[in-house]
Amino acid sequence: PQRQRLAIIGSGNWGSAIARIAGRNVLRYSDVFEPEVRMYVHEEMIDGRKLTEIINTEHENVKYLPGIKLPDNVLAVDSPVGAAEGADLLIFVLPHQFIPNVCNSLRGKVSPTARAVSMIKGVEVRDGQIRIFADVIEELLGCKCSALSGANIANEVAQDKFSETTIGYRAGDRATAELFFKVFDTPTFRVGLVEDVAGVSLCGALKNVVAIGAGFTDGLGWGDNAKAAVMRIGLMEMKQFSMDFDGVKSSTFTETSAGIADLITTCFGGRNRKCAEAFVKTGKSFDVLEKELLGGQKLQGTETAREIHTFLKQRGRLDGYPLFRSVYEIAYNDGAAKDLTSKL
Ligand code: NAD
Ligand code: 13P
Repeated sequence: PQRQRLAIIGSGNWGSAIARIAGRNVLRYSDVFEPEVRMYVHEEMIDGRKLTEIINTEHENVKYLPGIKLPDNVLAVDSPVGAAEGADLLIFVLPHQFIPNVCNSLRGKVSPTARAVSMIKGVEVRDGQIRIFADVIEELLGCKCSALSGANIANEVAQDKFSETTIGYRAGDRATAELFFKVFDTPTFRVGLVEDVAGVSLCGALKNVVAIGAGFTDGLGWGDNAKAAVMRIGLMEMKQFSMDFDGVKSSTFTETSAGIADLITTCFGGRNRKCAEAFVKTGKSFDVLEKELLGGQKLQGTETAREIHTFLKQRGRLDGYPLFRSVYEIAYNDGAAKDLTSKL
């Protein structure tokens, strides 16, 4: 069989960490994959040089994953179309707010036999409907899409510190998941497979909202018990919210890396937690804190809290989600952080 050509659409903190793993694994399985991996880089200038040029000469994403070498076979390309051209396998790893534009630019340019995986942690809410990005990608590009999510703080994965992750695949399509397994699995980055694209995707999106709540408890100095309570209630709301989606399994939430493990790591070590703690302590807005604390990286949890709130409000279902609601009220409506638990 023909060797598979891999493309990575995205090159932020997580995109770059995953490019390091995928770039090495295509060489490890050289009978299965083409050696060159193209990676879409949203172009920007850094000290008078293009980021693509820096990555292609120094093999380091100096802005989003400094200090980590990328394999030489990962080639930075400044357009999504240039990266995706001729690809059999596509990895989507962008902050979720940029996906619609990037996918629109790829419309009609991806082979219908290509297969994609979404590593995006977010959901699309539009016209009263909610969709996971694996579905958005399938619809816009016409190719099948799985999801990968897990307890994966990018900087730790990039240093080969042990972690697990989960690929959620479509019903009956384990073969694609097994191919992506070869792209990602390493002795320190262990990939599990579950037949649950929606569950894996929703865990990744919704835990970011809970992590904002967890960060609020840190900012308030409420201690570990309060944070654990927010996480427990958050997990319940995540599960309840997701059960309306096709094929979602309760075990995805409680037994996989995408579920409980990612909730734990994000509530202790993630960017959402960090900015939410600073929000309480400084009184600055999330937009300001994102710029001040994240060096160009993007927060996902505040956007997702707003999107979920819009969706639940339109359906008259907010009462069933007191934690999601409180997080939104505090982040967007001048709600007092100390009231986080008053309606739980
Ligand atoms: P990031 O937070 O580092 O975001 C910055 C990226 O966005 C950069 O590559 C930047 O060039 C790009 N960008 C900025 N403006 C853009 C535009 N207008 N169009 C296109 N791209 C633009 O990104 P990330 O950490 O790689 O996150 C990608 C996804 O992976 C997110 O959904 C995130 O939740 C998820 N994720 C992140 C981590 C992590 O630890 N960083 C871990 C697991 C999953
Ligand atoms: P943050 O976006 O909060 O850093 O979470 C990263 C993550 O998804 C870890 O699995």
